[in-house]
Amino acid sequence: MTTVLENPLRTGSRLERTAQPFTMVIFGATGDLTKRKLVPALYNLAVENYLPPNFSVVGFARRDWTDDYFRQEMHDGVKEHSRTPVEESIWDSFSQNLHFLSSEFDKEQGYKDLRTLLDRLDEQCGTSGNRLYYLSTPPSYYPTIIEHLGAAGLNKKSRGKNGYARIIIEKPFGYDLDSARQLNDQLHQVFNEDQIYRIDHYLGKETVQNILVLRFANGLFEPTWNRQYVDHVQITAAESIGLEGRGGYYEGAGALRDMVQSHLLQLLNLVCMEPPVAFDANAVRDEKVKLLRAIRPIRGNAVAEQVIRGQYGEGWVHGEHMSEYRQEKNVDQQSATETYVAMKLFVDNWRWQGVPFYVRTGKALTKRVTEIAIQFKQPPQVLFGAEASEGGGMEPNVLAIRIQPDEGISLKMMVKTPGTRLNIRPVKMEFHYGSSFGGKPPEAYERLLLDSLLGDSTLFTRSDEVEAAWGFVSDILRAWEHLPPPSFPNYESGSWGPREADRLLYRDGREWRWP
Ligand code: BG6
Repeated sequence: MTTVLENPLRTGSRLERTAQPFTMVIFGATGDLTKRKLVPALYNLAVENYLPPNFSVVGFARRDWTDDYFRQEMHDGVKEHSRTPVEESIWDSFSQNLHFLSSEFDKEQGYKDLRTLLDRLDEQCGTSGNRLYYLSTPPSYYPTIIEHLGAAGLNKKSRGKNGYARIIIEKPFGYDLDSARQLNDQLHQVFNEDQIYRIDHYLGKETVQNILVLRFANGLFEPTWNRQYVDHVQITAAESIGLEGRGGYYEGAGALRDMVQSHLLQLLNLVCMEPPVAFDANAVRDEKVKLLRAIRPIRGNAVAEQVIRGQYGEGWVHGEHMSEYRQEKNVDQQSATETYVAMKLFVDNWRWQGVPFYVRTGKALTKRVTEIAIQFKQPPQVLFGAEASEGGGMEPNVLAIRIQPDEGISLKMMVKTPGTRLNIRPVKMEFHYGSSFGGKPPEAYERLLLDSLLGDSTLFTRSDEVEAAWGFVSDILRAWEHLPPPSFPNYESGSWGPREADRLLYRDGREWRWP
């Protein structure tokens, strides 16, 4: 007989959080996201019994697919992208819940048909009138879909039923501050704020959620988490991939909109925000909005000084040749779109006044790594002279939170090396999710879909939050419009980005980490 050993550290990771019966409608279901992320996430939730026995998924898109064809496509997607291997017997019953409705997004009839289908599924599958709409189309369709959902009465509880109607909106939520406000207005004409779930998949990552746990479930860090003890903070989100066929979208977006406005400001926020009064959606998001409003705007001439942009030229990444950005499909050969941004910013509040935050992100860089490094001030150097250090100089303590890959936390500290002389050198105290907990953590979309089914919007962006983030980013975008066009490409694929980004820190007597 084989004995299955439970990892005692994992105990408690399964809280009872099974969703009520529901129907999820995915607009734009023939796109990549549905196949790579959404349906694999639902499948894994089903495998782990987080989904109720009664649920349906309706793919709504323009292509003329049948239920069977949709099921087959999703089967291939799940096989390729699921966190756990597909078990055909589970898939067979799971796939019976998948349906497809073919319609243009701007045709009233499509929404009438959707309504009829939803009513039928309620009857047949007992989905109780609970509806979750997922907008996964190009953003230009968002207003049309929202308006038609309202006109068809699909934004409300169904007649005679107690169900909910919720809507999840993929990023990008707007293109700048004005368009984000406009989209918020359009949404609010049809849905109440508590029905709206603006998704940022970084908030679904285990390691990102752990930032708040690290800060507020431990007594050790918080007392030093401020301008008195922290020298500076570095946030890096480096990607080694290029565009992967997304030129059509990316060329009009660029790294500032694509990564900084959403994911990086979220990371910054979780590191910097004040403790919320409760761990609930509004208390957490109140603090996040406060923090975003405390970020010192970067405007006019300060933009050239504090924000560096780059675009990749050709080079080699992991031993493979990569062509320059301007050669990508759907990209202008003279493109001025940035694939890299580095910036120095300040948070003007009681806790962080004067502490620089260096933030960088880019594509086609030397490796994929996302980390947050808190560098602490050094103690007065009176006891141990430079001669005590083997490595040539005492080094500061650094707490590095590794978001991905090789998720974990490390703390660098100085220790005495064994021996009769006083030699001091840095060592790292490390925690790795992989070795401590084993297994793969749930994918971000699993957590976020489940939360939206449970009605918990803590990990979703509120309207004022998304506008505050765009406010900061739009100042920079406006300034760029008036600056001379950058001479792109200015960094090689497979490097750590443009040289100017290094100068951003050299000027302050610091340097980027090489995570
Ligand atoms: C997406 C961006 O939101 O996040 C992509 O649009 C980027 O350009 C991706 O590659 C990064 O996500 P992750 O989870 O791979 O770090």
